[in-house]
Amino acid sequence: MKDQYGRAITYLRLSVTELCNLRCRYCMPAGGICKLSHDQLLSEEEMLQAVRTAAQLGITKVRITGGEPLTKPNILSICRGVAQTPGIEDTALTTNGTRLPELAVPLREAGIRRLNISLDTLNADRYASMTRLGRLEDALRGIEAALDAGFERVKINTVLIGGFNEDEVPALADLTRRWPVDVRFIELMPMPGNTEFGPESYIPVDRVLEQLPEAEAEAEDGVARLYRLPGAQGHVGLISPLSREFCGTCNRIRLTADGRLKPCLHSADEISIKGLDAAGMLERMREAILAKPRCHGELSAVSRSQSVRAMNQIGG
Ligand code: GTP
Ligand code: 5AD
Ligand code: SF4
Repeated sequence: MKDQYGRAITYLRLSVTELCNLRCRYCMPAGGICKLSHDQLLSEEEMLQAVRTAAQLGITKVRITGGEPLTKPNILSICRGVAQTPGIEDTALTTNGTRLPELAVPLREAGIRRLNISLDTLNADRYASMTRLGRLEDALRGIEAALDAGFERVKINTVLIGGFNEDEVPALADLTRRWPVDVRFIELMPMPGNTEFGPESYIPVDRVLEQLPEAEAEAEDGVARLYRLPGAQGHVGLISPLSREFCGTCNRIRLTADGRLKPCLHSADEISIKGLDAAGMLERMREAILAKPRCHGELSAVSRSQSVRAMNQIGG
């Protein structure tokens, strides 16, 4: 289905939980989160009904997100259900990777084709500090497990943060030589819950190119502009929600774990589908697609996202 601005909406981002086994500073509020009660959350059947409804409206790609989707006890069954939905051609998942050593193979068998894995640093102390809880070696073992499990594509997501990991751009980009992965640098987005970052943390991804003079431009892929280092197996990608927004080609709609459709990542607008039957969901989903704004407002360190949710409640 097309929105009011003629954009075909073909991509659903389905957040299956707000919970996470990490507490990344740019994603989770310092004070932690209030756990939603069981009856506030979409059931597995409601999620799958929403996916079927989305497919009827022309959605062909679903990306399962969180929080951390691999903390959800029934994640494999959700993935299987999504991947088997008629009309859904591509089922992918975004994860922090730490549970992949156990789950990579079962996820592949459940029908997940592609994985995006978060990794912001190769320094163990920095990793522990940015994730508030995590161990770098768990994430690295997760990436290796994903590569061994034979996914069609593995991408690494790195949030670029001034004063934190800017000096690691060459080392992180070099992972595209070591492994058949894309490494995508993402501009930090100012969301509710991550106000601890000052203006110096917000740096444009074009800084990445300054550190990689040998990178050659290639095509675009979704929200990322792609480059390749000589001899690399994968791409270096730049995702620039602040310095060069990509709303004009937005093909996405989001569904949160408590059943709210978000027409736009950065708008406060939300439409609930919790408790509705198939016909009710279809109507609300149409409404949400038609409610997509042309673009979000100015986004910067001082002009923050209008979203009322932190990133762990949306899934990126
Ligand atoms: P593929 O193209 O399927 O590989 O996935 P993706 O890049 O859409 O998904 P991923 O979960 O890896 O997200 C990468 C980054 O892009 C995250 O930081 C998201 O928050 C960000 N992102 C994804 N969609 C949008 C969007 O519509 N607007 C903005 N501003 N950022 C987005
Ligand atoms: N800004 C940019 N990217 C973010 N992510 C989480 N929070 C933010 C933020 N505030 C990224 C994660 C994950 C992806 C889905 O979104 O690193 O890779
Ligand atoms: Fe968890 Fe991902 Fe948020 Fe980090 S970015 S706290 S890993 S949901």
